[in-house]
Amino acid sequence: MSYNNILTQTQRGITTITINRPSKLNALNGETIQELHNAFNEADIDTQIKVIIITGSGEKAFVAGADISEFADFTVAEGGTLAAQGQALLFDFVAELKTPVIAAVNGFALGGGLELAMAAHFRLASDSAKMGLPEVSLGVIPGYGGTQRLPQLVGKGRAMELIMTAGMIDALQAERYGLVNHVTKQEELLPLAHKIADKIARNSSVAIGAAITAVNAGFEDGKNGYASEISEFGTCFGTEDFKEGTQAFLGKRKPVFPGR
Ligand code: COA
Repeated sequence: MSYNNILTQTQRGITTITINRPSKLNALNGETIQELHNAFNEADIDTQIKVIIITGSGEKAFVAGADISEFADFTVAEGGTLAAQGQALLFDFVAELKTPVIAAVNGFALGGGLELAMAAHFRLASDSAKMGLPEVSLGVIPGYGGTQRLPQLVGKGRAMELIMTAGMIDALQAERYGLVNHVTKQEELLPLAHKIADKIARNSSVAIGAAITAVNAGFEDGKNGYASEISEFGTCFGTEDFKEGTQAFLGKRKPVFPGR
């Protein structure tokens, strides 16, 4: 599939999706959100793809937010629809993918950019990255899951301060907050993402998908994380990956997971 606003590249079972609107600091307009949905979906249904990395082009921005020029004159109803459609198409969609998604935050991750990074399963950042939810400085609030995922990741008080001040934190502060797992030099960001992705790709993709479902269940209304864990745990026993993993261990050899 060809795209106007993103680039995709696949090597050794790892797909890298790069948001590519550098002149607009990779801001998320409607077309980019739809293209990202399509690219994530395409990678997720391809059983050869074991990990997805999401990053931004250039050294300045991961994503500087939703494209303000697109919604500046929206009505109340249009504003609500913007948030609902965005969450369904991209942010919740990414969070619920069975294929692990790593965000490699290479610069500004603001508003919808930080919300996209937070929808990924975990995050790495370059030492130049800056993160924040500046929406209240525009007279609006985070609408792509930011009011929920930021407190889950950093705690309620820190999230309240970041949201209310519309401030930015640097990469080291984000690491201290637990918002990103690792901070590297810019040039080492994608190599580190690939190194971690390679490690993930050696494991059972069906077990990883089940683990994502169980972890997410603990953060979703009306779901019981422990019950989800029991159910997903049991389901693993019916997979070819489980047979292969246990037999390889007992046979003192490395497993070759079929991913089923
Ligand atoms: N939506 C639309 N366009 C955006 C954008 C966004 N969220 N963020 C940046 N851009 C555009 C700018 O309008 C500018 O376009 P132009 O050259 O056609 O005028 C271009 O990207 C470069 O941005 P600029 O502001 O000139 O860069 P800077 O280095 O001076 O500042 C930021 C960088 C990130 C601090 C600044 O762009 C900014 O505050 N962006 C908005 C962040 C935000 O509020 N996001 C939440 C949206 S809900």
